[in-house]
Amino acid sequence: MVYKIRGKKRLKGSVKIQGSKNAALPIMAASLLAKGCIILHNCPKILDVYAMLSILKQLGCQVRWDGNTVMISTDGLFSCKVPEKYASSMRSSIMLLGPLLGRIGCADIAWPGGCPIGARPVDIHQMALKKMGVHFEISEKSIFAERKKLHGIEISLPFPSVGATENIIMAAVLAEGTTIIENAAREPEIISLCNFLRSMGAKISNDGKKTLYIEGVHKLEETEFTIPDDRIVMGTYLTAVLGTGGEVFLEGDCTGELGMLVPLAKETGAIMICNEKGLKVNMKEPFHYPARIVTAPYPGFPTDLQSPFLSLFSISGQICTMEEKIFESRFKTVAELEKMGANIRICGQKAWVYGKQYLKPACVNASDLRGGAALVLAGLFAEGETQVCEISHIRRGYQHIDQDLRQLSADIEFIQE
Ligand code: UD1
Repeated sequence: MVYKIRGKKRLKGSVKIQGSKNAALPIMAASLLAKGCIILHNCPKILDVYAMLSILKQLGCQVRWDGNTVMISTDGLFSCKVPEKYASSMRSSIMLLGPLLGRIGCADIAWPGGCPIGARPVDIHQMALKKMGVHFEISEKSIFAERKKLHGIEISLPFPSVGATENIIMAAVLAEGTTIIENAAREPEIISLCNFLRSMGAKISNDGKKTLYIEGVHKLEETEFTIPDDRIVMGTYLTAVLGTGGEVFLEGDCTGELGMLVPLAKETGAIMICNEKGLKVNMKEPFHYPARIVTAPYPGFPTDLQSPFLSLFSISGQICTMEEKIFESRFKTVAELEKMGANIRICGQKAWVYGKQYLKPACVNASDLRGGAALVLAGLFAEGETQVCEISHIRRGYQHIDQDLRQLSADIEFIQE
C-alpha cells in the first residue's frame, strides 16, 4: 500500500477532524472497569483502535460497530491475559494494566509494541501500582501483575508521564481510599479519560492540573460517551497548510487543545480564527517560520508534531532547530527526508535543519506513525511525484489521511498493491 502525492498545490476547502486516537485507546481500556455496555461515539476507525478491540474480544468482551459508534459489552470478561500477537502491535496495550487490576485483580500482558521512538520503560507505572498493593512478576516476554486489594496512595511522579498518569487513575477509581497524584500529566487526553470515568460514576477532581485527586468508589456503571476530536490530526493538517499556503477550515472541537501550536502558527503569518466549531487558517506568502522548537509536556509543543514540523522546517529557507525532550529516538524520519533533499544534522537530542526553498520527490518509507504523516506532508511540499510506502504505520492513527487531504484539494492517491 502506497500513497502517491503530487505536491506543490495550495490547500483549500474544509475537512472534518476524526475522533482522537490518544483519547480513544485509554477510554476503551477503561471500559473494562464497569460491567455492562459501553457506547463510544466518534471513535476513529484506525488500526490501533481495531487492535484494542481485538484485545478486548480476546478478554471476553463483545464488540459491535455502527458507523463511528462502537459498542463494547464487558459482561463476559473472563481473562486477564493479553498475548504477544495482540500486545505487540501497539503501545496502548499497557493501558489495560490499571483496568484489569481494578476489575478482576490480575493482568498478564505481553510487552507492548508501538512506534520505535525510544526505550519507553514502564517503571513509573510499576512504581505507583506497587505502592497501591500490586505484586509484579516481570519476564522477558510479559508483565504479570496481581493484587489482593488496591488502596489509595499519595505519589509524586518523577516525570508527568501520560501513560502512567492514566494507569494510576484507572487503578485508583476502584481502590479503597483517596489517591493524590502530584506532577500528573495535564494532556487533554487525561481530562477526556476523567470525563469518561466520571460519566461511569468515578470521583475525580483537578484533572488538567498538576495535582489530581481520585476518591475510590465500590462500583462503576455502564455509560455512553463521545470521543473528542483529534488535536494531533488537526495539528498535522495545520502544519500541511503552513507549508503549502492556502485557505482551509479544519472542523473539530479541539482548537482549545492545540496549546502553544496556535501562537506558533500565527508567527508564520497565518491568519487564524479558532472556536469550538473549528480552525480557519489563511496562509499567504511570505511565510515566516519559527527558528527554534522544543518539545515538552502539554501545554508545550507536542512530541507527536515534531516530525511534521521537521518537514516544514526543511522548506523554510532558513536554519531551524528542533529539540526532542520526550523520546530519545524520535528522529528516524530524518533519513527519509534526506532522500527528498532535506539537509538535517542530528546532534544528540537536537536536529539542525538547513531549510531549502523546496524538496524533491522520492520513494520514502514510513517507519512510525507521526513520522509517516510527516513524509506525506513532505510529499505535499515537493514538486513532482512522491511515493510514501509502508503506510500501515500511518493508518494506525489517521483514519483517512488521503481522503482528508484530497478534500483539501491535495493531489494524493491511495494505491493498494
Ligand atoms: C507520549 C506523549 C503524549 C503522546 C503519546 C503518543 C508526552 C509527555 N507524552 O505519551 O503526549 O500523545 O506519547 O505518542 O509528550 N517514561 C518513563 N517511565 C515510565 C513512563 C514514561 O521513563 O514509566 C518516559 C518515556 O520513556 C518518555 C517520557 O517518559 O521518555 C514520556 O512518556 P509518556 O508520557 O508515558 O509517553 P506516552 O504515554 O506514550
